[in-house]
Formats: sequence, structure tokens, C-alpha cells
Amino acid sequence: MNVKLTLGIVLSILLVAAVIAVAGTKHDSGEHAGRAYDQEFARLLVKLELQTRAVIAKHYVKADETHRDWLAHNLLLPAAVADNVFHEVVPEVTEGRAWVKMIVDEPRNPNNAGDAITPAMLKELRAGNDSVERSTKNAYYYGEPIRAAKTCLVCHGSPQGEPDPYFPEYAKNGWETGQVVGAVIARVATETHD
Ligand code: HEC
Repeated sequence: MNVKLTLGIVLSILLVAAVIAVAGTKHDSGEHAGRAYDQEFARLLVKLELQTRAVIAKHYVKADETHRDWLAHNLLLPAAVADNVFHEVVPEVTEGRAWVKMIVDEPRNPNNAGDAITPAMLKELRAGNDSVERSTKNAYYYGEPIRAAKTCLVCHGSPQGEPDPYFPEYAKNGWETGQVVGAVIARVATETHD
């Protein structure tokens, strides 16, 4: 039951995300409006990813042992779902214009590798900022911090370098509760009007 409920919630969120993103691609106004829209869009993507994770995490924590194992083994983890799903959904519905990733120093999932802009953004969040943005010639970036909670430490905590008990192909990261361990960053490419 719990599993079905969780899946239902996840799927509804993804549907909402897809609808919003598809609606987004239909937008075509002037260049200034386009820029403001890009900012809104990037913020929305970051919040969707964070919120999706929060909802999944809540159900993961509430689930009993059997369901937790099921969730873990099917990669229905807070982070894994958001990464694996958003990695495909966002570029697909925006025709390659946008991405949203979970940026950390050493990503387990190569889909989370950032670009030349993201390391400095993560550094700024580690310095204590609640959000960070960048505008380059080609894109707008927006990011918010990811903080480790107690529930994350079973897989990402200490001792650093020892195998993650659920996913032994990865090593534990040595994270501590409350630490800013990464950033959810969205990149929206500037629309070209030619
Ligand atoms: C049951 C083990 C487990 C738990 C609990 C867990 N994670 Fe993870 N986490 C993983 C795995 C496995 C991956 C890589 C999944 C993949 O291949 O996409 C991952 C990936 C990530 C990433 C993406 C960066 C990367 O390395 O690719 C972040 C950020 C992250 N986790 C943060 C968290 C936070 C914050 C929590 C607690 C709210 C948490 N995780 C709880 C196992 C876990």
C-alpha cells in the first residue's frame, strides 16, 4: 500500500512537472520577458527537484523495513529518483534547453556532473547563501543548497571511503548532519530570437 501510495505521489509530481515544463516551451515573447521567464523557470525546476525529494524522503522514512528495502532496491531514493528522472524529463520536455542536477564534489551519478560555472556556485552556497544565480552569455543558472539530514548518513556518512551498505559500489562520503553537501542547480539556455 505504502509503496503504491509513494509511487502515485511521485508520478503525480512528475506529471505536474512535465505539464509545467511543456507549458514553458510554448512561451515566446520579447527578449526581456524571455529573460525574466528563464529565471522563473530555473527557480521552478530547482524547487520541483527539492520538493520531489522531500516528498519521497518523507514516505521513505515512514515506510516499514520491507518497503524501505523495496524502495532502496528500486532506486526510489530521495536523490536517485530526482536525478534519474529529472535527468531525462527536463531536457526532453524543454527540447534540450534546460537541465537540473544535484551538484556535489564527487558525483556518484555521472548525470550530476556540472559544467565550468557550477563549482563556484556551490562554493557560494557553502559560504552560507540561501540561493545563488549566474547569468552567462548563453544561459541563466539558479541553485539552492542541499543539506545532509540524519537519514542520509546511513549511505553518505562516516567512515568516509567505506562501502555504502545499500549500494556497495559507492563509497560513503563522510557527510555530517546539517552540512551543505551539494546544490540543486538548474541551467536554462537563453532563447535565441533570430
Ligand atoms: C539508501 C542509501 C541512500 C540514502 C539514505 C540517501 N542516499 Fe543520496 N544517493 C544514494 C545513491 C545510491 C546515489 C547515487 C544514485 C544514482 O546513481 O543516481 C545518491 C546520490 C545522491 C546525490 C547526488 C549526487 C551524486 O553523487 O550523484 C545527492 C546530492 C544525495 N544523494 C544526497 C542525499 C541526501 C541529502 C540524502 C538524505 C536526505 C540522501 N542522499 C540519502 C544513496 C542514498
